[in-house]
Amino acid sequence: MLYSEKVMNHFMHPRNVGVIEDADEIGEVGNAKCGDIMKIYLKIEDGIVADVRFETFGCGSAIASSSMATEMIRGKPLSQAMELTNKAVAEALDGLPAHKLHCSVLAEEAIKAAIRDYYDKNQIPYDLVEFPEESCANCQAE
Ligand code: FES
Repeated sequence: MLYSEKVMNHFMHPRNVGVIEDADEIGEVGNAKCGDIMKIYLKIEDGIVADVRFETFGCGSAIASSSMATEMIRGKPLSQAMELTNKAVAEALDGLPAHKLHCSVLAEEAIKAAIRDYYDKNQIPYDLVEFPEESCANCQAE
């Protein structure tokens, strides 16, 4: 089968879909390869991801990846959320087809964009190399 059971499960029953009305940060990025869009909402309390939701205009793999990624950072310190990679998300999903790996990048980039805004707003120092280059869609949205 092309997709693992975990991918199918997270696609059919995505966790953490929706909006946080009083979010502390919102990260929005676009996928340069396909034009799809991802929005991540974070509620941050004492440096911890207290709540996280996502909305995506993306494919099944993007939905499954975002669902898994939000599960992986919920309740974690921001420093740990920052370490999340699309590779780790794909592994947690028991793999994605090679041509769908780029879909899992959306969630990682949106989470990092939100955290970077949070760091900026709260004047928390960070190392720029930790952050992926912002995509054009993200630049246009600003
Ligand atoms: Fe665009 Fe998957 S094809 S995110």
